[in-house]
Amino acid sequence: MEGVTVITHPLVQHKLSIMRDKNTSTAGFRQLLREIAVLLCYEVTRDLKLTTRAIETPLVEMEAPMLAGKKLVFASVLRAGNGLLEGMLELVPSARVAHIGLYRDHKTLQAVEYYFKAPDDLGDRPVIVVDPMLATANSAIAAVELLKGRGAKDVRFVCLLAAPEGVRKFRAAHPDVPLFTASIDSHLNENGYIVPGLGDAGDRLYGTK
Ligand code: URA
Repeated sequence: MEGVTVITHPLVQHKLSIMRDKNTSTAGFRQLLREIAVLLCYEVTRDLKLTTRAIETPLVEMEAPMLAGKKLVFASVLRAGNGLLEGMLELVPSARVAHIGLYRDHKTLQAVEYYFKAPDDLGDRPVIVVDPMLATANSAIAAVELLKGRGAKDVRFVCLLAAPEGVRKFRAAHPDVPLFTASIDSHLNENGYIVPGLGDAGDRLYGTK
């Protein structure tokens, strides 16, 4: 599907399979999510613009390629987004960070904002939204709406797993936002879980179940 990149790199797929295994420990799950995040970050930043800067190597002067423009922003959808965020920051330690807190209203099933903190100048920076599970896509769509409402223009979305239903809904809502994932799984079950999936990413990451 246009605008959707599935990262099929063998290391990503291998690590993801271990994460799916219900017998993988909390520590193992956390470490693997961080490692996969580094690899996903590499892909989602592939087309960042470069400029050059004059530097001196020990031998000569040269115009060396450097990232152009302002530092990028990672926007973590709380709480599981923080698991991906850590790996992303390992690769781009100078990135700015936005945190977006959303909960699901049990009556309407819509995402409701309870926390939002981001740099003021979102419009001047690439913004990479991170949330491991794209299931119904309600929270992903709401998170991107909030960021666009605060001026973000160059937005990308990274998840670990996606359901086909979520991918279609997200792309329909935000056709300008490219989506990166390690897998598009079979379907969503009646409880909104991705199948085969890996369970509740937040619970597995923080050992809350
Ligand atoms: N959120 C999760 O953590 N897991 C799912 O399968 C769906 C949404």
